[in-house]
Amino acid sequence: MAATEKKSAAPASKRNATLSVDSKTVEFPMYDGTEGPSVIDISKLYSDTGYFTFDPGFMSTASCESKITFIDGDKGILRYRGYDIDVLAEKSDFLEVSYLLLNGELPNAQESKEHIRKIKNHTMVHEQLHFLYRGFPRASHPMAVMAGAAASLAAFYHDSLDVNDPAQRELSAYRLIAKMPTLAAMAFKYSIGMPFIYPQNEMNFSENFLHMMFATPCEKYTVNPVLARAMDRILTLHADHEQNASTSTVRLAGSSGANPFACMSAGIASLWGPAHGGANEAVINMLREIGDVSKIPDFIKKVKDKSSGIKLMGFGHRVYKNYDPRAKVLRQTLEEVLGELGKIDEPLLKIAIELERIALSDEYFVERKLYPNVDFYSGIIYRAMGIPSKMFTVLFAVARTAGWIAQWKEMMEDPKNKIGRPRQLYLGAQQRSFIPLEKR
Ligand code: SDX
Repeated sequence: MAATEKKSAAPASKRNATLSVDSKTVEFPMYDGTEGPSVIDISKLYSDTGYFTFDPGFMSTASCESKITFIDGDKGILRYRGYDIDVLAEKSDFLEVSYLLLNGELPNAQESKEHIRKIKNHTMVHEQLHFLYRGFPRASHPMAVMAGAAASLAAFYHDSLDVNDPAQRELSAYRLIAKMPTLAAMAFKYSIGMPFIYPQNEMNFSENFLHMMFATPCEKYTVNPVLARAMDRILTLHADHEQNASTSTVRLAGSSGANPFACMSAGIASLWGPAHGGANEAVINMLREIGDVSKIPDFIKKVKDKSSGIKLMGFGHRVYKNYDPRAKVLRQTLEEVLGELGKIDEPLLKIAIELERIALSDEYFVERKLYPNVDFYSGIIYRAMGIPSKMFTVLFAVARTAGWIAQWKEMMEDPKNKIGRPRQLYLGAQQRSFIPLEKR
């Protein structure tokens, strides 16, 4: 930490929590947030008592201070920098939201113009990256390509690797937000044996993304403005989500001083999992497996039978114990897109709507507070747009890059930032003598 940087003021502690253990009483300061649960600062627990806390999955653990995103899972609230997600989805756009996440305020006209100019200045990737793509089998899962491509940006952009230089941190943020759609579209084109399409900077962010995904060198391709607007709204909805698994992965990777490109690659790896960002692809596979509305009761029976290991993908959430506010907006967007494309009779939609109706009235799901989450409808929209299911989580990563890099920047600007290094409850073997091979 540079000597000139002052320590940020810890939140004021107005009261303490008391812990009595082994006939010892220890006090821990408590801090109140501007919203949401207060916290008990247990950072001195080990030094004061010799004990660790134990919280697998971090169900009751706040890992950091943040001013970026607030979620109230019981009320189904999601806000970026204080603005409700449904309002941003309706009145803002993804690039403006990326500015808001990074800087804490909505941009004025001049700031917006400058932000867009900076992003457009970085939409292309180094031409050598084409050779990296050619090293992958065409049938590679695009998330494998994205994890590699994101990390490989560190091999090209040496002038934005110094994580202690604010100007280089900002430059890497712009490069990542601008280049992720290009890398994503390249992964899609490569998987279908089509040539890469270069960014077109006269287009807006989502038009350009759909153009790179679906245009060919052979003829003019006009992006449907309804689909571009729907895509932009979907990207806004997925941009950030507090300290979810992939964002926590980015923060933990960044806490060691790793460069931002490597940290994004770590986030992509975590997002890939079916319990997290991979759920949108798993939802489509589930709907296809159900196949028909008449098969839903049997499927629900399997889900309730724990031994089946089958989950209702797109349902449930660690934080939301109410309807995910993003799912509500996606449901409206879905009907807009299917209407525009004349696909309102999409069979998977019928299954999804009936599955939702049954789940929302079935005691098993109601008592466990399992509601549709952001992944339940997004896949049906993408599929209607002609995007293959293997690309769904890639689109999630394109959007979440804005949140990941904003959270990474916030952590790097925190003078109290230190390497994350959790401890454990050790249940392994105690000390024992080595047995030579001939005696085993
Ligand atoms: C995302 O964290 C974020 O913010 C993530 C995200 C973001 O924007 O970054 O919102 C994006 O990842 C959304 C979640 C997408 N994942 C899925 O849709 C996969 C299906 N969902 C489940 O895997 C699950 O709901 C989780 C992982 C999302 C949350 O799991 P938790 O909080 O660990 O809950 P749990 O596993 O302890 O479940 C509580 C109970 C259990 O039953 P009991 O043991 O109490 O009898 O609910 C059951 C679970 O078996 N349960 C489900 C279920 N989810 C939980 N049962 C059937 N189907 C499900 N989907």
